[in-house]
Amino acid sequence: MRRVYMDANATTPLLPEVMEAMRPYWMEHFGNASSIHLHGQQARAAVDRARETLAEFFNCHAAEVVFNSGGTEGDNTAICGLLRPGDHLITTSIEHSAILEAAQRLAGRGVETTYVAPAASGLIDPEEIRRALRPETRLISVMLANNETGVLQPVEEIGKIAADAGVFFHIDAVQGAGKVGLDVRRFGCHLCSISAHKMHGPKGTGAMFVRRGTPIEPLVVGGSHERRQRAGTENVPGIVGLAKAAELAMESLEDGTIPRLAALRDRLEAGILKIPGTGVNGSSIPQMLGAPSLPRTCFCGKGGIPRTSTGFVHVDGCASVPRVANTTNIWFDQLEGEALVIALDLKGVAVSGGSACHSGATEPSHVLMAMGLDKTRARASLRFSLLKTATEADVDYVLQVVPEAVERLRALSPVAAGTAG
Ligand SMILES: Cc1ncc(COP(=O)(O)O)c(C=O)c1O
Repeated sequence: MRRVYMDANATTPLLPEVMEAMRPYWMEHFGNASSIHLHGQQARAAVDRARETLAEFFNCHAAEVVFNSGGTEGDNTAICGLLRPGDHLITTSIEHSAILEAAQRLAGRGVETTYVAPAASGLIDPEEIRRALRPETRLISVMLANNETGVLQPVEEIGKIAADAGVFFHIDAVQGAGKVGLDVRRFGCHLCSISAHKMHGPKGTGAMFVRRGTPIEPLVVGGSHERRQRAGTENVPGIVGLAKAAELAMESLEDGTIPRLAALRDRLEAGILKIPGTGVNGSSIPQMLGAPSLPRTCFCGKGGIPRTSTGFVHVDGCASVPRVANTTNIWFDQLEGEALVIALDLKGVAVSGGSACHSGATEPSHVLMAMGLDKTRARASLRFSLLKTATEADVDYVLQVVPEAVERLRALSPVAAGTAG
């Protein structure tokens, strides 16, 4: 059976070049980067080179790059490392749980949080962030791209608001990195978290941009690694793999990969939307359905991501919101998303549903609910997220199996028969 993996926002496989770059650092060059002998020097040189690559990736100084274990650690560090009792945090209700749960933990320690809700399109209005500012606000934390809808947030405008107010600004760029160009100077942030495994690098490795002078307390203590900002023997193979993935991602932003991916995603989306009772979460695409030759994702300059790095093309009068090129989130009336995920898996297609398992119960996605979907529609939503190696044939196969599976499930569905509440 053919297998098509369309769950890239959950994780991605290593690219062969990443595997090759990491290979010597497991056995031949196994040294501890803190040792002064030859083995240590080899490891240190590899970490230093990787830091230079990441500095280019973020557009910062090498001394502003801190290697860590991934997005969750970066997000936790931003929240818990900067906020003290009495401080106020502004974030959004569509952040990853690595931000939301860190904020909840601090609620018990005297840190108040304002959660700004998105518009129905999934976009955060920067003015809502401005309105939430208080004299005690110390940090604003907003994601670059949402993991479920792919919607790109106007981080540059939010960065200006943070600068005007003299407030620190963290960006969770885990889902944006490698899909749009990062530029922490232009974004105006003090902190920015990324994760290797979302961009064809290894799991358990990430990095954080920490602007010079940002008074962040390390989460992990126990040594002088990473300029005392993150203790622990460096994961040298992981760091080397992250740097290779970042290097390849920078190439992909320039070589036509992103527009190609956007075209594949758009074809997939248009094909699925031909099924009655479907729609896109995180876009105003129905307004564009009359004009299938137009690009379906328009970036009209509001979020500050340059056209060249995204491949997005502006269409006059287009009301759609900017999204990363690989993601679409679609609701299907009259069925359970989870049943469709399973049906597609049986046909070899891997996607994610609009629900998550919390303490054994399946809860509809907090992101889709924050966008105003009701529970039934949130549960009946699926995320298709393409790998950058996705092909036309992958899309053809998915377009072959999805309509069949939807039709079959709807025929059986108690939701369709009107017996479910
Ligand atoms: C937006 C976002 N932030 C943070 C994370 C956590 O990253 P990691 O898996 O590297 O801990 C994820 C992972 O899904 C994510 O999508």
